[in-house]
Amino acid sequence: MSPGPFASLMASLDPPMVVVTAAAGDERAGCLVGFHSQSSIDPARYCVWLSKANHTYRVTLLAAHVGIHVLTDGDRQLAELFGTVSGDDVDKFGRVAAEAGPEGVPVLSACPRRLVARKTAVLDEGGDHVCVVTEPVEAATTGPFAPLRLSAVADLHPGHEAADRPRPPTERAPRP
Ligand SMILES: Cc1cc2nc3c(=O)[nH]c(=O)nc-3n(C[C@H](O)[C@H](O)[C@H](O)COP(=O)(O)O)c2cc1C
Repeated sequence: MSPGPFASLMASLDPPMVVVTAAAGDERAGCLVGFHSQSSIDPARYCVWLSKANHTYRVTLLAAHVGIHVLTDGDRQLAELFGTVSGDDVDKFGRVAAEAGPEGVPVLSACPRRLVARKTAVLDEGGDHVCVVTEPVEAATTGPFAPLRLSAVADLHPGHEAADRPRPPTERAPRP
């Protein structure tokens, strides 16, 4: 398959952007995500696809719940913070107001449009992103709003490229 038409078709969908957060032990993580969707009505299910490169992916594997914050067209600064730097280098939560929400999930004070959701399954079919299936346990919104769409943040450079992998690959790997 030629990649050009696929990329063009996907860009035309112009998805809304979310920030996915998770906590495990003392560690908090969060990243900007464009790959996400409701995936069932009854029971309610919501999927997010996390890059294997991301600090947020590794923390989410250890977490039971995630936060899914829907950004508005006024939230570009949050998109920049969560999409262009990595928790591997920077504590993003030192730069933004957040608190422990339901199930200990880090919730962003500036994002009252969000889900707290329980992980029900993780699907890795070999691609560079992994599907995290969730069951929403709490939803909050403020009424109608204009979402921040990919087209408004397409100029941002991700904190990790999808092909990045941690070195050493696990914290327990012996040093070379
Ligand atoms: C426009 C845009 C869309 C992105 N979409 C996703 C996505 O769907 N899934 C994902 O895991 N990362 C996505 N990223 C990349 C992460 O948000 C980015 O690499 C982030 O800095 C990773 O942070 P972390 O290492 O602290 O988790 C996107 C980045 C940008 C700029």
